[in-house]
Amino acid sequence: MTEFPKNFLWGGATAANQYEGAWDVDGKGVSTADLLLGGTYDKARVFTKELKANAYYPSHEGSDFYHHYKEDIKLLAGMGYKTYRMSVAWTRIFPNGDDAEPNQKGLDFYRNVFEECRKYGIEPLVTISHYEMPYHLTEAYGGWDDRRVIDFYVKYAKTLFTEYKDLVHYWLTFNEINIGMLFGGYMSLGLPVKDGAAPFNGEMTDEDIQNNLQGLHHQFVASALAVKIGHKINSNNMIGCMIAGNVNYPLTSRPDDVLKAQLANEINNYYCGDVQVRGAYPHFAQRFWDEHNVKLNITAEDAEVLKEGTVDYYTFSYYSSNTLTTDPSKADAAGNFSTGVKNPYLKYSEWGWAMDPKGLRWYLNDVYGRYGIPVMVVENGLGARDVVEKDGSIKDDYRIDYLKGHIEQMKEAIKDGVDLIGYTPWGCIDLVSAGTGQMAKRYGFVYVDRDDNQEGDFSRTPKKSYYWYKKVIESNGEDLENK
Ligand code: BG6
Repeated sequence: MTEFPKNFLWGGATAANQYEGAWDVDGKGVSTADLLLGGTYDKARVFTKELKANAYYPSHEGSDFYHHYKEDIKLLAGMGYKTYRMSVAWTRIFPNGDDAEPNQKGLDFYRNVFEECRKYGIEPLVTISHYEMPYHLTEAYGGWDDRRVIDFYVKYAKTLFTEYKDLVHYWLTFNEINIGMLFGGYMSLGLPVKDGAAPFNGEMTDEDIQNNLQGLHHQFVASALAVKIGHKINSNNMIGCMIAGNVNYPLTSRPDDVLKAQLANEINNYYCGDVQVRGAYPHFAQRFWDEHNVKLNITAEDAEVLKEGTVDYYTFSYYSSNTLTTDPSKADAAGNFSTGVKNPYLKYSEWGWAMDPKGLRWYLNDVYGRYGIPVMVVENGLGARDVVEKDGSIKDDYRIDYLKGHIEQMKEAIKDGVDLIGYTPWGCIDLVSAGTGQMAKRYGFVYVDRDDNQEGDFSRTPKKSYYWYKKVIESNGEDLENK
């Protein structure tokens, strides 16, 4: 008997700003992502207010899904996808964010994409906002710190719910909303940054934390309002949250390390999860605010809206775990592992991410135990360099191993009793990395012929993992062998 439920949603995930390209085509406006240069593992991406001539902005072409969507969806269907997680570019629908009317060509594009999915029986799973917003909202309003942005978002979300009422039933309000309280001031909240700055780097001051948490509060309210409206427009809509799943282990059994890891899990995961699933801030929030001199403007009406607009399911991304200690000598030794110290029991990817399938089982049990609503893993995968062999094939056994390990642990979590409803590995067709802006950091089952020198014709080639994942889906997660 299979451990995965019969209607388990197997699929894959992408995001518009990393994949779609066509950044200024058919009336699309400039998004916050469109002003980020490409970087590398040790050279941070940089924001430029004005576009620099001859500079590389990875979002501008992405993997050119805009002109390849039929071919790409056919490839996904070839693996037997039940669902495809993708995001809508806000700037394709409302180019400036505060426009009176939506851009018809943008609406038409996504209608075509969703219809193409439906043609193959693929259920679209749509992220309304994935690490981008109209840059005009940053420039003219200061991003999510301004309350008026709530109304712009709600209008945008309502437009999508109405327009695609019969085509889309699975929605996510914000991608990795908790990144807004970590380093995502610009990327996640559209807060202004200085020209030439690396927008997601460095220490946060109390003032940064104040701004991020106020912006985040506005996103919570916007998300809750979107949930309420989405349910009104179609009571079949399933509207979820999306959290960057943070698994924090203590390095030792020293109580200080244990408490540090506990606090990190609370702040990084439950702060946002509790508001979106339970409809209220958790017990530890007040102390966190006090210790960082944060004073949030939360109205009585906001509190009511948060209660009424809780999500239907909990989704998250999971790539790796973090290991924490209060011992400064150990922390120093960690060098470039910004989120903690090296875990001696785990292997690390070329980009410094710990590979830890069991951390996924831990997280699934942890959040399901806390919230008791259906959960879905909407991102997971190994960013790695792929080599195209002389015969044109790509033998990505390392990726198969990584995914196999995680699927095995999902199975264990289901046996543990977790109501896991789907799995959409990240970057199912190669796309640009969000963190570094590189094409070299690939996640896909399908190779895209494009590199960081902007060479390549965007042609698509299934990798070895493509055929492996097809078999996984066909067998509903039973046959994981890499033959
Ligand atoms: C998640 C994001 O943080 O991780 C994606 O939702 C991102 O947008 C993915 O691409 C992997 O990160 P990276 O930096 O390797 O692209």
